[in-house]
Amino acid sequence: MILGVILGVILGLIFCGKEIPLRDAHNTAREHRSVTVLGSTGSIGCNTLDLIARSPDRFKVEALTANANVAVLAEQARAVRPAFVAVADERAYGALRERLAGTGIEVAAGPKAVVEAAERPAEWVGASIVGAAGLQPTLAAIRRGAVVALANKETLVCAGDLVMAEVARSGATLLPVDSEHSAIFQVFDFAQRDRIEKIILTASGGPFRCHDRAAMAHITPAEAVAHPNWRMGAKISVDSATMMNKGLEIIEAHHLFALPETRIDVLVHPQSVIHSMVAYVDGSVLAQMGSPDMRTPLAFALGWPSRIPAPAPRLDLAAIATLTFEAPDPERFPALRLARQALQTGGAAPTILNAANEVAVGRFLAGEIGFLDIAESVARTLEALDPVPLGSLEEVMAVDAEARRTASAIPRGRLHAKKRGPEGTPDFLNGDGKAGPWMG
Ligand SMILES: NC(=O)c1ccc[n+]([C@@H]2O[C@H](COP(=O)([O-])OP(=O)(O)OC[C@H]3O[C@@H](n4cnc5c(N)ncnc54)[C@H](OP(=O)(O)O)[C@@H]3O)[C@@H](O)[C@H]2O)c1
Repeated sequence: MILGVILGVILGLIFCGKEIPLRDAHNTAREHRSVTVLGSTGSIGCNTLDLIARSPDRFKVEALTANANVAVLAEQARAVRPAFVAVADERAYGALRERLAGTGIEVAAGPKAVVEAAERPAEWVGASIVGAAGLQPTLAAIRRGAVVALANKETLVCAGDLVMAEVARSGATLLPVDSEHSAIFQVFDFAQRDRIEKIILTASGGPFRCHDRAAMAHITPAEAVAHPNWRMGAKISVDSATMMNKGLEIIEAHHLFALPETRIDVLVHPQSVIHSMVAYVDGSVLAQMGSPDMRTPLAFALGWPSRIPAPAPRLDLAAIATLTFEAPDPERFPALRLARQALQTGGAAPTILNAANEVAVGRFLAGEIGFLDIAESVARTLEALDPVPLGSLEEVMAVDAEARRTASAIPRGRLHAKKRGPEGTPDFLNGDGKAGPWMG
């Protein structure tokens, strides 16, 4: 048993140094793993708690957090009895306290309280807050050396170098939850990383895979959040529809697997059965498959380094019969190209891309801008701001805030304004009146 725990610690240290997660490392997880779920009321958070509820003897919940969804958070807290719950929105504090009166559960509110939840001594932390709001709490868990199951890809997009440096410094273990990155992690031979030619991220193509650009102009928020294969939160559903989600995942994969952008391919696979692949120098391509249910990659991360049961529908390949693949179309889905260019540019570019995208998706969901305006708005924000080098969290936060201000200030009517010559050059275009390098 003691040997097992020691092996587990060694494995954690090895993986955090991006080396070899040994495959014979079964059964080293502790009997009662203490867990904290950041963003427990969201789609990923609820799936995590569903798995925990199915193995109550295996897990003990330390803390749960939400933004403002007091009803679901209180219900979850009454069910799993954490020591601590926090809401980011201070206005929700009174209602949460009232709902948990008499339970003995400590209640707190505000962004600092969410960070405090991450700092509490849970061995495993599910980072499932949506957007850059997850950065500081996720970093707090990483800084104290926790096992962090990362769903919150925006954390790596907006501050990837900083986050990976903290992982290396603290000895934290970062486990991917995104189904694509979980798939790659499962078939990536860390002992022979020099024998890996490339990784291939699969993409469903989203609900508008077959739409032409003209039809995309009329897409409504309700249509955009209705993903054909996955049930997810609103923001990631819109990201999937624009394919910005795949762009964010390219940046996430670059940081997790230490590969350059040129060795990260994207392949559209509408059935979402193959979750991603790794191609080796001998021509072998290893894939991980499963039905599209986030409880499978979540169970992989929750049980790691051992496997625990998950109730996802079992794959019936005979019933599916046909798996299809196609190349992504960067003309109809320019977000993919924007993300690649941001990664190539480096510095603040991915931070700007992420913040501008969060603002644009919010504006689209609010009915303020159209579907095609999302990528356009991101492109214009990238054109407007310098991709300065980022050396600290404060610098990341400052760029994030500036990009949000810039993206929010782009008037709706200007997004598809006809491009004019230098005299009447719109604010967000280059001086020569052409779109900047961002739109290719
Ligand atoms: N859903 C999926 O299948 C899936 C798959 C792969 C990766 N991911 C990634 O996982 C993350 C979560 O996605 P999701 O679909 O679960 O999102 P979601 O359903 O919208 O849930 C988001 C969670 O974050 C909380 N939250 C929102 N704003 C916050 C803030 N400012 N401060 C603190 N907490 C805040 C929400 O609380 P309230 O409920 O109170 O608003 C909720 O608990 C995203 O980064 C996404 O890209 C999701």
